[in-house]
Amino acid sequence: MLLDGHDDAAVSDAADRLAAGELVAFPTETVYGLGARADDDAAVARIFELKGRPIGHPLIVHVADREDAGRFAATMSPLADRLVEEFWPGPLTVIVQRKAGFAAAAAAQQATIALRCPAHAIAHALLVAARDRGVPGVAAPSANRFGRVSPTTAAHVVDEFGADLMVLDGGAAQLGIESAIVDCSGDQPVLLRPGVLTRERIEAAAAAPLLAPHDASPRAPGTLVSHYAPRATVRLMTTPMLRMALEVLGAEPLKLAVYSRSVPSGVATGVRHRRMPARPEQAAHELFSVLRELDREGVHLIWVEEPPPGPEWEGVRDRLVRAAAA
Ligand code: TXA
Ligand code: MG
Repeated sequence: MLLDGHDDAAVSDAADRLAAGELVAFPTETVYGLGARADDDAAVARIFELKGRPIGHPLIVHVADREDAGRFAATMSPLADRLVEEFWPGPLTVIVQRKAGFAAAAAAQQATIALRCPAHAIAHALLVAARDRGVPGVAAPSANRFGRVSPTTAAHVVDEFGADLMVLDGGAAQLGIESAIVDCSGDQPVLLRPGVLTRERIEAAAAAPLLAPHDASPRAPGTLVSHYAPRATVRLMTTPMLRMALEVLGAEPLKLAVYSRSVPSGVATGVRHRRMPARPEQAAHELFSVLRELDREGVHLIWVEEPPPGPEWEGVRDRLVRAAAA
């Protein structure tokens, strides 16, 4: 059932459900999350079941503030502290050593745990109301079936899971792609997943360069090569390649869509075209929505013009490369 997240009564109701071990979907500034109380392994198991997510893939635990992070962390490393100080509440997830014997299912039995304090008024209100009911944090992956495109509106969540699930509606997610994840559990920070926050900003706050993810466990869903996939086949193309392909294609009424910043001439002849915004924040904001819309329109093939190089496009590029790997 879809409830207005701006309504206090709806938030109280959702917090009651979380406290009782039920699932609730809620908005954050990045994407919508599918939440369960993080300290209840049985409640967390329901998330894995509903998403069809393999149990080896750990979840992010959402907390109302920095102090609450301390309930899940064995220690917040100085590195994690610097990042949290700079970016919380906000679209940054830190991975730290987990407090033993706590939130084991949410962490998929890893010795570490992923923590995030979202900057979204409804998410925050829900986390505070849940805390008032004894819930120390809410484990929440993106509210989509495993491997699919993350939801950026409440309607997307209903499309994924149907009308039985409680969804707090907070409108379209402001940022549109998931949080940046930085592993702070070792000596040096590792960027496990790029987000809207640029590498430069994170490195400046960390006072250290960000390493690339090594191939070690856990194989996280956001870090699998194929992820964020619409039903249509996605091909990522350079601008000249896209131009040439469209010339060859002519006016063939293929179930083809083109998503590009430039408008190649072939597009005029009936190929469905969506304009990719010139600004990376705007592109991130609408990316998953566009992929879902094209799926709904029955498109079979999506040709995407490669985004420009540059750190501010890293998050969008990452999601497109994974969508195209499916
Ligand atoms: O923006 C976001 O982060 C959204 C919203 C709902 O907050 N959440 C989200 O969760 O994207 P999810 O489950 O779809 O992605 C969680 C990512 C996965 O790549 C997961 O493997 C990684 O976090 N992760 C979680 N715990 C980890 C750990 N202990 N070590 C390494 N990676 C971890
Ligand atoms: Mg996800």
